[in-house]
Amino acid sequence: MKRPFLIDTDPGVDDALALLMALGHADVDVVALTVGAGNVGLEHTAANALRLLEWVGQDVPVHPGSERPLVRSAADAAFVHGRDGFGDTGLSRSLEGLAAGHAAAAICDFANLYRHDLELVALGPLTNIALALHLDPQLPQKLKRLVVMGGAVTGRGNTACLAAEFNIGFDPEAAHVVFEAFPQIELVDWEATLRHGLDAAEFDAWLAEGGAIADQYRSISAATRRFIQERRGDRWHAADALAMAVALEPDGIVASADRAVRICLDGELARGATLVDWDARGDRPPQCRILIEYDQDRWRGLLRSALGHARIGS
Ligand code: BDR
Ligand code: CA
Repeated sequence: MKRPFLIDTDPGVDDALALLMALGHADVDVVALTVGAGNVGLEHTAANALRLLEWVGQDVPVHPGSERPLVRSAADAAFVHGRDGFGDTGLSRSLEGLAAGHAAAAICDFANLYRHDLELVALGPLTNIALALHLDPQLPQKLKRLVVMGGAVTGRGNTACLAAEFNIGFDPEAAHVVFEAFPQIELVDWEATLRHGLDAAEFDAWLAEGGAIADQYRSISAATRRFIQERRGDRWHAADALAMAVALEPDGIVASADRAVRICLDGELARGATLVDWDARGDRPPQCRILIEYDQDRWRGLLRSALGHARIGS
């Protein structure tokens, strides 16, 4: 049996790459996508999920979820991903074909359907998963695992709240609910993303050679790749795709650290920060397995395959 994956996402240019990795992986069956607001508004993230599934010709239900964070409104990341989240290339905004049922309810339903087998991968703000926990507090015990892209484990964030990473900073209350409820989270943070940069020229070459999927990805990511290149030079970073590598092939993990992580809800500069008990000074058991290093060649191979160069997995 293929491994059932449910992916909660806010596509988003790096979400798209991660989704292509999962949808193209021979060992995995993506049973549903749940989408929420994050990088851009829900009407765009939902449309983008539908467009991506059209490109790969797969019939996967897309459940729309949260339109806003649980408590406080937050700024989106349209300046990175484009106003429509997919590089403003004029793609259709049609929402025809969205599945019935809120994302949070769908997460609970699929967890019951695939009891103890479902692998949940969170690539956006954690609002939908926090709402699912309110619907079903037993959710953590019903899942096989939860992989989260989020956080900045030593405070090197990527938002205006200096220590916060985008997914956690967009909805800190939701992140708090999830980090308090799950006894085990596999965490891929922004700082791990920075350590796993890709050579931009090599990535461009993969896009140029990859075929129809790569052409689509080249088009939606062009503006974002330019934006990143202007700021970070010749390295290309894809946070959600690194998290997906961990989700798909965890045996590519070279080093990780088990630590307790809490979410900072107060203040302005540190709201949304992920506070890590690095030296085990607190009394909380470590609930996060934090990625320290992933096999860079394995990661490159997964990306290259996702862009259409080869079948991924066994
Ligand atoms: C995360 O924030 C979003 O902009 C990306 O899609 C990714 O999930 C990186 O901080
Ligand atoms: Ca994302």
